Amino acid sequence: MRIVHVRLGARSYDIKIGPGLLKQLGRECVRLGLGHRCAIISDRKVAPRFAGVVRKTLMQEGFKPLLITVPAGETAKSLSSVHACYDRLAAHRLERKSFIIALGGGVVGDLAGFVAATYLRGIAFVQVPTTLLAQVDSSVGGKVGVNLKAGKNLVGSFHQPRLVLCDLKTLNTLPVREYRSGLAEVIKYGIIHDADLFARLERDLPRLLNREPKTLATVVARCCEIKADVVGQDETESGVRAILNFGHTIGHALEAISSYGTYLHGEAISPGQIAAAEISARMLGLPAREVDRIRLLFRRAGLPAQLRLSTVQRRKLFEAMRLDKKVSGGEIKFVLARRIGRVERGQRVPDQLIHEALDAVENRG
Ligand SMILES: NC(=O)c1ccc[n+]([C@@H]2O[C@H](COP(=O)([O-])OP(=O)(O)OC[C@H]3O[C@@H](n4cnc5c(N)ncnc54)[C@H](O)[C@@H]3O)[C@@H](O)[C@H]2O)c1
Ligand SMILES: [Zn+2]
Repeated sequence: MRIVHVRLGARSYDIKIGPGLLKQLGRECVRLGLGHRCAIISDRKVAPRFAGVVRKTLMQEGFKPLLITVPAGETAKSLSSVHACYDRLAAHRLERKSFIIALGGGVVGDLAGFVAATYLRGIAFVQVPTTLLAQVDSSVGGKVGVNLKAGKNLVGSFHQPRLVLCDLKTLNTLPVREYRSGLAEVIKYGIIHDADLFARLERDLPRLLNREPKTLATVVARCCEIKADVVGQDETESGVRAILNFGHTIGHALEAISSYGTYLHGEAISPGQIAAAEISARMLGLPAREVDRIRLLFRRAGLPAQLRLSTVQRRKLFEAMRLDKKVSGGEIKFVLARRIGRVERGQRVPDQLIHEALDAVENRG
């Protein structure tokens, strides 16, 4: 088992990573010194696979778990799901020392975390992420929340988990498209913070695509270390945490203008990161050879490296970028790379350069 520590003073916690850890969840929860009553929040695809083991290990240690399931997919990240969860928690008489376990992908993690952040003005929660994206990204850092009709993640809070338990074996049942989508965030960590990780990914990609446990353990742990380090420096995203948004300015806009389900998150941020690399070459001198390495790695991971947009779609993309909640004062700001492994945030980019980068992604993909 590998352990990554998230250093946040009184809110510090461990991320534990390894194969087969699910069975140890009960014992881990005992160590946290929480109450006996707890709720497992999961979705209808994940619960049939893993909720049995989770319930058993909790009951063996004397806990009284209630299982709450929500539909699988992004639509479950809603205030109506939150409301339904509150009612179940109240009926099960969860109190201040009780806790919630988020068992599932980023959707369940964000939803269950938000429920935990607000029920009784905040109770403890544990993240048990079962997608690659959730293990390397969404379960760490305490951003929790739900969507509104007007947009994604518009209601939320910061509420750190007490523990993150990544059982690598759960990834074996993840559909290949979801798995590859998670790899887009893995590649991002190499670009923003760790040239050695990037080189390792170039070398070990076939093993990673085969979900080989040793490679997976090393890579997931390294990604968690980077996220923990960034979050430890800037919990509430007033500064350096913004570097985690590399490729997301265009990626989010692409998600916003496409109909639901067209792109998984990782599929949108892949051309987003390639476009950001193209802009980086023009603004910060990222060498052309490194732009090529970035494009090639996404392509080898089976992620979209090309983006064809009609004139109308491109106009909509720009509108969506300006509407993004991270834009202040109407100005689109980018995270850009000087080198693989080194980025700078808050970069103002003229529209013309964004167009040139999108042309390059269209023609060279
Ligand atoms: N809080 C953060 O910092 C943060 C960061 C990134 C993304 N997010 C959020 O994460 C969400 C996306 O998360 P996601 O990609 O994990 O999606 P998801 O939670 O919808 O999971 C994807 C699909 O895989 C299924 N699934 C999950 N684990 C499985 C397993 N082990 N085997 C088989 N199927 C499994 C789920 O039921 C679902 O259908 C978005 O809502 C996004 O906004 C949050
Ligand atoms: Zn992302």
